[in-house]
Amino acid sequence: AMSSFAKKPKVVSVTGAAGAIGYSLVIRIASGEMLGKDQPVILKLIETEPGMKPLKGVMMELQDCAFPLLHGLHGTADLEEGFGDAEHCVLVGARPRGPGMERKDLMTANAAIFETQGKAINKAAAKGVSVLVVGNPANTNSLVLAANAPDVDSSKVMAMMRLDQNRAMGQIAEKTGCLVSDVEKVVIWGNHSNNQYPDIHHATVKGESAMKVINDEAWMKETFIPRVQKRGAEIISARGASSAASAASSAIDHFRDYVYGTGDMWHSIAIPSKGEYNTTPGLWFSLPRKCLGDGKMELVEGLTFNAFGEEMMKKVEKELIEERDAVKHLLP
Ligand code: NAD
Ligand code: LMR
Repeated sequence: AMSSFAKKPKVVSVTGAAGAIGYSLVIRIASGEMLGKDQPVILKLIETEPGMKPLKGVMMELQDCAFPLLHGLHGTADLEEGFGDAEHCVLVGARPRGPGMERKDLMTANAAIFETQGKAINKAAAKGVSVLVVGNPANTNSLVLAANAPDVDSSKVMAMMRLDQNRAMGQIAEKTGCLVSDVEKVVIWGNHSNNQYPDIHHATVKGESAMKVINDEAWMKETFIPRVQKRGAEIISARGASSAASAASSAIDHFRDYVYGTGDMWHSIAIPSKGEYNTTPGLWFSLPRKCLGDGKMELVEGLTFNAFGEEMMKKVEKELIEERDAVKHLLP
């Protein structure tokens, strides 16, 4: 039978496509899990020169999957070619941390990558491009990228916080014996780092206050918060490598919800602050937002903090300012 596709293919560019996250991610984009089962995609996969050989293997596998939605497949180490006409970019290509490192230890190795890529996206990507930064330190890499891409709407340059949100939901579901789908309105404030504030004060479990259902402040402070903050390190020490399938899955969740919208659901997304919740403008500070579809977002306003929350907010803000200062040389 002849196939027909009503929708025009969308170009999706992925950096680091031959790495651990990339391997999990590109298969799911090509199968339609990110942009929909009726949305054809053209994949542009970007790797370093040494990454070109393993990338060839990944591309062979993509071909061998015979995905009906995959209408084009390109692999390149040339940034302008790789970002050419991109409507969505998932920026994964960067060094991962090993045992004993903090994510900000990757700053010198990784931030410069985002300077170069920002310039290339600015030149080559489609108008209205949206970008998800996964490579660490994701929030500050986003800042570097946007500063080097003046023609790109910086509110469409997002640092990935969805993995932290999903981790928090998983912990609450386990603690309460409910399903993750019963858990709503968890917020991850601030940075994708061990200073983030995973906040359950507004969360609900089956519509009831999570604080009331859990009724265990010591668990919240001593188990839940540090566990979510340090989950990346916990996985590195168990697996000997940083999280990959869960990171890829969160990137899929992020873009699917961003493009299709999820009504009243809350998602933690880091885009440049405009000073909301007393945050410093221009920091990629994660705040709760509703996804209205087609990339439109609305801030969840009017949430309040207790003294503990205020302190957590100040601490993570300070860290984001320090990270910004450390990359000053990359900001034009
Ligand atoms: P990996 O080493 O397995 O893969 C990275 C790939 O990127 C490699 O194939 C490498 O060749 C490629 N690469 C490196 N520099 C590049 C560049 N300039 N352009 C294009 N490609 C480049 O690492 P991984 O496990 O896939 O992790 C990738 C990044 O994602 C790391 O920085 C990691 O810390 C981060 N990460 C972020 C989150 C999050 O929630 N934000 C979660 C997990 C991992
Ligand atoms: C994660 O949260 O799993 C990633 O950011 C990888 C890491 O270094 O923790």
